[in-house]
Amino acid sequence: MTVQTKLNFKSDNGLRALGNLRPFYETAGGIAVLGDSLELMRKLPAASVSLVLTSPPYALHFKKAYGNKDKHEYIEWMLPFAREIKRVLKDDGSFVLNIGGSYNKGSPTRSIYHFKLLIALVEEVGFHLAQECFWYNPAKMPMPAEWVTVRRVRVKDSVEYVWWLSKTPHPKADNRKVLRAYSPDMIRLNKRKPRETTRPGGYIIKESFADVDTGGSIPPNVIEDDAAEDMLRFGNNAANDRYTLRCKQAGLKIHPARFPAALPDFFIRLLTQHDDVVLDPFAGSNTTGMVAERLGRRWIAIEREEEYLRASKFRFEDLD
Ligand SMILES: C[S@@+](CC[C@H](N)C(=O)[O-])C[C@H]1O[C@@H](n2cnc3c(N)ncnc32)[C@H](O)[C@@H]1O
Repeated sequence: MTVQTKLNFKSDNGLRALGNLRPFYETAGGIAVLGDSLELMRKLPAASVSLVLTSPPYALHFKKAYGNKDKHEYIEWMLPFAREIKRVLKDDGSFVLNIGGSYNKGSPTRSIYHFKLLIALVEEVGFHLAQECFWYNPAKMPMPAEWVTVRRVRVKDSVEYVWWLSKTPHPKADNRKVLRAYSPDMIRLNKRKPRETTRPGGYIIKESFADVDTGGSIPPNVIEDDAAEDMLRFGNNAANDRYTLRCKQAGLKIHPARFPAALPDFFIRLLTQHDDVVLDPFAGSNTTGMVAERLGRRWIAIEREEEYLRASKFRFEDLD
């Protein structure tokens, strides 16, 4: 099946030349490349990327269509990718890794493979842990059914881990780029100015605290799959809707593990500037590339399943 697209024009974003990469498709800001990311990342020069933002296949029992790794093999499989990621990152670059937790087979106990992976990334590969963040996803299914809905001995899992790693202890970051609207309480406080007071813990709040009104509140390290925010920013979360609709029309598989636009949006704004290069080596439906394009960053997306990459073009149709 041929997918009609207005993409594939010759762009001057400089990304083809960067790693002599052959684009599967190309936009004004980025290139999507079909193939194995371990092989393809080797073509990229050292210190050429500002942010690697990705969600690799997780080690799950219930293997997804694209072949998840067994937990025991997982760390061994992941580390060569991580070494390449570290090599291509600039010294002030970040590696943001979304990784899901899981249960041990046949037991109501949790695996600790994602913690082991984190330790290996820091102790064996040499990354620094800038901050551990969480993706709050209330839409997750109450799984495994055996423990959550049948025996009722565990509660619903609603977060995924997002390890924010960096090449040096001081990655480029600016939390003023991700400020949130002040709460009504904070607006009231800013208006009437806080009174000088001592908190029970001994911390003294001074009158000058009033100067913290800098246009928004500093967000927490919990990123919500916030449809309302997406709606405000992207207009009715149109990108995801269009993607699933167009996949159905074209008879192409909808990617089973897409992350919400809010996740790459948060980290790309926090950690990069205009024209910086963002790389997703496990791109899937290319949510990362789509968000990077909207934010005026350059992007490289690598995915080894042609059908996913073909369908991911739909995300860019309204951006032409
Ligand atoms: C969890 S999904 C990523 C989903 C993506 N974040 C999104 O929003 O659509 C992981 C993807 O990695 C791809 N993948 C696995 N191994 C790969 C490899 N060696 N090179 C490139 N892609 C790979 C899989 O085909 C799958 O689509």
